[in-house]
Amino acid sequence: MNKPIPFNRASAVGNELVYIAEAIRDSRLAGDGSFTRKCSALLEQSLGVPRVLLTTSCTHALEMSALLLDIRPGDEVIIPAFTFVSTVNAFVLRGAAPVFIDVHPTTLNLDESRLERLITPRTKAIVPVHYAGVGCAMEPIMEIAGRRQVAVIEDNAHGLFGKYRGKCLGTFGCLATQSFHETKNFVCGEGGALLLNDPAYIERAEIIREKGTDRSRFFRGEVDRYTWVDVGSSYLPSELLAAFLFAQLEQRDLVQAKRKKIWEHYHSCISPWAEEAAIRLPVIPEGCEHPYHMYHILAPSLEKRQALIAHFRSRGISASFHYLPLHLSGMGRRLGGKPGDCPVTEDISERLLRLPFYFSLTEGEQDFVIGALREFFL
Ligand SMILES: Cc1ncc(COP(=O)(O)O)c(C=O)c1O
Repeated sequence: MNKPIPFNRASAVGNELVYIAEAIRDSRLAGDGSFTRKCSALLEQSLGVPRVLLTTSCTHALEMSALLLDIRPGDEVIIPAFTFVSTVNAFVLRGAAPVFIDVHPTTLNLDESRLERLITPRTKAIVPVHYAGVGCAMEPIMEIAGRRQVAVIEDNAHGLFGKYRGKCLGTFGCLATQSFHETKNFVCGEGGALLLNDPAYIERAEIIREKGTDRSRFFRGEVDRYTWVDVGSSYLPSELLAAFLFAQLEQRDLVQAKRKKIWEHYHSCISPWAEEAAIRLPVIPEGCEHPYHMYHILAPSLEKRQALIAHFRSRGISASFHYLPLHLSGMGRRLGGKPGDCPVTEDISERLLRLPFYFSLTEGEQDFVIGALREFFL
């Protein structure tokens, strides 16, 4: 293949340019204009969530969640060791102590069998991450959280439109967060959303997102001026981003159908020889409908994974590892993390490799990636 195959490539999939031109023509570029409202309404209706607020990133939606739950120094928050830094940073910023939980070797999701013993009187929240959009075991997680009176915030950065036992991911916890970063299924460059499943949080969330003011109520004509009423920051995306995002969300059937085809092509081509190559493929438990966010393999060892990355690079293919164990990062160690705390995370993070996966990936490009993978192992 002459052209390099990147790991990710963001694409326009519909009316992105038309809608951006419309926003410019209307001279309405700040947040919470008509495109923001359209994105929120589409997400509220398609997921069945009482209120969705677009944010500037999933990171910011997580930070808003920590503010909404009044997380304070001394609180503990249970977070998988195998996740992105933002999942934990949002709570550490408020002074919380993260309690890292290990993941299942199959789904790479939080291992709910370890949950109960990590809960203490100081535990304020559990943050399940639906890795690759494959749902965590939400029934036992919600049962434990309910019984121990701990809030659940779903980090659903990967899982928009995924389902667990027929219910949309992001609709189980009192709060949930989404990402529209350019690597996700639906993108606007940098963006996110906060899903407010518990309506009790709606009013304060609007205030926190609007610099701690009641400007949202002012815009709705509910107060005659707006003022500082609480802590907050600037978490609204511009209308230009919302215009791009709305065009993407409108094409959700097209995008999901294409991603399904890509995922299934990888899976059906690699499965027949995966065992012989000693690589492990993604596991989708019964009851999980995943949104085809990524395709990853587990190589037999770190050395093999690194050699495979180099092999791919020599063929012009970019493949990427994923999260490094958070408890073993510089910051994680300063917070007390040490090797052996989360052995599954430590093992899989060394062996995991994500294959190129994006809307415009062609079958020919995919076959080239699959061929290079097979050539390396067999
Ligand atoms: C699980 C998870 N949470 C949060 C984020 C942060 O998302 P964003 O880049 O939108 O802030 C990421 C980033 O990919 C992620 O993988």
